[in-house]
Amino acid sequence: MCGIVGYSGPNNSVNPIIEGLSRLEYRGYDSAGICLKINNELHILKKEGKLDNLKELLQTEKPFSNTGIGHTRWATHGAVTADNAHPHGNDIFAVVHNGIIENAGALKKDLLAEGFQFKSQTDSEVFLVLLTKFFKQTGNTLQSISKAFSSLTGNSAFVIMEKASDKLYALKRSAPLVVGENKDSREAFVSSDPFALVGFAPRIYFPQDGVICESIISTSDVTMKFYELDLTPSNRYKFQSNSMSMDTTTKGPYEHYMLKEIHEQPALIDKLAAFYIKNEGRKDLDELKGFKTEGWHLTACGTAWHAGLVIKNYFEQINRQRASVDIASEFRYKNPILNKGEIGLFISQSGETADTLACQELCKEKGIPTYSIVNVEGSTLFRNADKNFLIHAGVEIGVASTKAFTLQALTGFLMSRAMEGTLDDPKLFTEIQLLSNRIAELCSHADSIKSVAEKIYTKKGFIFTGRGRYFPIAFEGALKLKEIAYVHAEGYAAGELKHGPIALIDENIVNIAIVGPELLEKTISNVEEVKARRGIIVVVGPEKNPEVEHLADAYIPLNFEGLPNLSPLYVNVALQFLSYHIAKLKGTDIDKPRNLAKSVTVE
Ligand code: AGP
Repeated sequence: MCGIVGYSGPNNSVNPIIEGLSRLEYRGYDSAGICLKINNELHILKKEGKLDNLKELLQTEKPFSNTGIGHTRWATHGAVTADNAHPHGNDIFAVVHNGIIENAGALKKDLLAEGFQFKSQTDSEVFLVLLTKFFKQTGNTLQSISKAFSSLTGNSAFVIMEKASDKLYALKRSAPLVVGENKDSREAFVSSDPFALVGFAPRIYFPQDGVICESIISTSDVTMKFYELDLTPSNRYKFQSNSMSMDTTTKGPYEHYMLKEIHEQPALIDKLAAFYIKNEGRKDLDELKGFKTEGWHLTACGTAWHAGLVIKNYFEQINRQRASVDIASEFRYKNPILNKGEIGLFISQSGETADTLACQELCKEKGIPTYSIVNVEGSTLFRNADKNFLIHAGVEIGVASTKAFTLQALTGFLMSRAMEGTLDDPKLFTEIQLLSNRIAELCSHADSIKSVAEKIYTKKGFIFTGRGRYFPIAFEGALKLKEIAYVHAEGYAAGELKHGPIALIDENIVNIAIVGPELLEKTISNVEEVKARRGIIVVVGPEKNPEVEHLADAYIPLNFEGLPNLSPLYVNVALQFLSYHIAKLKGTDIDKPRNLAKSVTVE
């Protein structure tokens, strides 16, 4: 969602700000803007649409400024227009915002009644106007920030710059925020994502909620100061050196990041297995040996929720432990039954998904330990969890999550085997190796899936079906297709079709049927039912099975042998390729699908 980058130091702030915003483009946005302090004035430039539009403007104007803040906006309050884009500013302050001010309507009404004026329809400008109001009363920036922030409800991060100094101020409530510094070059940075600061800020700080950060550049140093809202010094922040690398951020020979990330999976699977079975990760898993809970509460959104459904099967089938899986936006409001002895397990690629974080908070309030399966080390989910199981997927840039799903599900499987005490079973390592080999084979024969896509990409709707362990994969297959190809797609339990959705079937509807070796006959009967109604059948099924092949209009043969636990992950990669090729034939923006954001930091 919204991206924030700020800079203060001896160099031109435009370069790191635009570079940082470019790195955050993958998160999704619809307008971009920058505020630069030039000759002691705040200059704001904003453009609707892609960051390139703003870059063009900057190329024409060629501004130089030591201090600036930039923003990519993903609209929530107010249409996509240059006026509504950030920064919002006046002749005292400029601010950028990520999140939602829930009481903006009421505050704006009061401010209008007091005679203040607004230039945009955004909730964000309410913060600017409040800040200005308090500054006019107190003449003190820190006090005004504190008072304005304390008047707001909702989850937000703000970065503020002022005409009167080269300082940057930042603070947040339940939204991602990082400040960074480079002592050698005397530069200060702020961002909504540490990824934007890689190569710029070797030292980074994650402030906790309600901590005001102030960067001060002097002729000999850069210092970060932290304050509580009562303006006493704060130590509520986490410091770390920025160890992320830039290697993972180029597409290499691939046309899209999504394709690159699909191809990365075999190597990442091998790496994760080695990490958790043989290397540093082993001690974390060993702590789970013989571990029993009264119940697992798995909570996540989107693709991570689907990974949760796969993991639930492992916990229930391998460990015979009760596990519930909830969509985070439902869990947080359903007054969940949470008892001592239970564990909340939160699954997330970004570790910044607002609904998932709210569920983690809820469990913490109820005294339930929280564990995470997460990709981004240092994310809010990671920092707030009692135990973290990192998936080590590297940066995932494609908005459509691919490698993260595979590695989340694999991490859950390894946790399950650790509880069972079978991490040293040679069959375990063999099965994981087989998974990575099979996915590698799929990657090298992906053209055959492309020809399946060519047969069906113009069709009206797609119903993905699967039974048992493949049921979550039907959901995930459908989500991937709808998000990148913009076609209607649904996931269903194969046996559920005749309870309603079969009414949709005609010659324009494609049934992508996952037919695994388990419950084969029953799943075949479900396919027959669709075929009898002239539906188009694409089967993802066992290779060398003429009976199943005969049923299908197009067939994606897979070798299920030797994958008693991990075949769902393998099938899913075939569906990732299928969605990718359908989207490519339709000519959509695969890496940055319309309306979507990589990291959903608002509720
Ligand atoms: C996946 O393709 C999605 N774009 C989306 O469903 C995503 O998985 C979801 O928003 C959760 O994100 P997280 O893993 O970062 O928490």
